[in-house]
Amino acid sequence: MSLLIKNIKMLVQVEDEPVKKVAGKAMAEVAALDDAYLFIEDGKITAFDKMEHLSDAANFWEGKDYEMIDASGKMVFPSFVDSHTHLVYPTSREVEYVDKIKGLSYEEIAKRGGGILNSAKMMQTVSEEELLQSALKRLDEIVAYGTGAVEIKSGYGLTLNAELKMLRVIKKLKSMTPLTVKATFLGAHAVPLEYRGRQSEYVDLVINEMLPQVALEGLADYVDVFCDKGFFTVEDTERILEAAASYGLRGKIHANELDYSGGVQTGVKYNALSVDHLEYVGDAEIESLLASETMPTVLPGAAFFLGMVYAPVRKMIDAGLPVAMASDFNPGSSPSGNMQFILSMASIAYRLLPEEAINATTINTAYAMDLSDVLGSIAVGKVANLFITKPIPTIEYMPYYYGVNKVDTVILNGEVVKQSVPH
Ligand code: NIG
Ligand code: FE
Repeated sequence: MSLLIKNIKMLVQVEDEPVKKVAGKAMAEVAALDDAYLFIEDGKITAFDKMEHLSDAANFWEGKDYEMIDASGKMVFPSFVDSHTHLVYPTSREVEYVDKIKGLSYEEIAKRGGGILNSAKMMQTVSEEELLQSALKRLDEIVAYGTGAVEIKSGYGLTLNAELKMLRVIKKLKSMTPLTVKATFLGAHAVPLEYRGRQSEYVDLVINEMLPQVALEGLADYVDVFCDKGFFTVEDTERILEAAASYGLRGKIHANELDYSGGVQTGVKYNALSVDHLEYVGDAEIESLLASETMPTVLPGAAFFLGMVYAPVRKMIDAGLPVAMASDFNPGSSPSGNMQFILSMASIAYRLLPEEAINATTINTAYAMDLSDVLGSIAVGKVANLFITKPIPTIEYMPYYYGVNKVDTVILNGEVVKQSVPH
């Protein structure tokens, strides 16, 4: 099917010469066309321009069968790319959330066998079908909020069979949803209770039993390690990233959420695609990232939900780094996959300009999933994953009017997948 969207009040984040990521000062630039049209064929963006040039281009699609959407008063944005989630999980964990309100820290809850281990216990018994159905509901939810691509991690299994179960569910999701999905193997998410005091033996299990099977079945695009205080050490992380590299798998790691863990430098050393969380980032981490191809990724939802210090994002961008922002959608530290909220958090809590926030949640997260050639902006030849907003006055209104869904119509692979009631 072909689709013409016309009378677009503002077509946001158009690119004539697509880039893989944006860094430093360039993050404050988002090109936009007012009063524009956009043409989609076979799931791809094939043309866009100002409405005044629409008739010049008429012979371009003359005789073609296409549908038309009139977007008067509305804007078109590229879909959000959510490059870090744990959205396949057995059940919600609101009991721990109450413990947190009462004053227990994330680490204290983890030490008692709560947190990740709590999900891992439930993962042993939940069926693949239940996991699949609950994840599909969450995918529907994030689609409605404008996400067009999502990375999903394992890491609530922590045994060979349960990790494989999670990854097989993610593999099924890839073919069942119009979203673009990437899978990350996170066997080293937490040390199971029975391995307490024998952490390196658990790392052996991850490297010698889990990873080979994951690679054999082609179940993962990336490998993750929670490299942080109280979780996995730099040495554990190096061993896992080295083994992953031997299977051609790059790292996307959890680093520096709870301390200056060395995780950032380790990720950079092994050419990780991204290092994520980054609450504890100082000059040494910034230096190391500046000399790398690794995308620093901040997860505002987790910092907000856990009441942690916020990553020094302003300082990172001012130093010339790119920054990506993702949801971290998971039952323990960020029970929301709403990327519009991340956009608002970016500007409210991290002092990013709306344009910087848009780049952080689209093109830079696309880079952090190896997708910036095909997603993350409006460019000819890219996949038509985008959304039409409700009538809104300005681009800035997107982060400003927070907590409300501003998405009206979602288009994924050139097909309308969600349309709200007309108003
Ligand atoms: O990204 N930091 C590590 N892992 C997750 C939390 C997962 C959980 O608590 O279930 C995170 O925040
Ligand atoms: Fe995470």
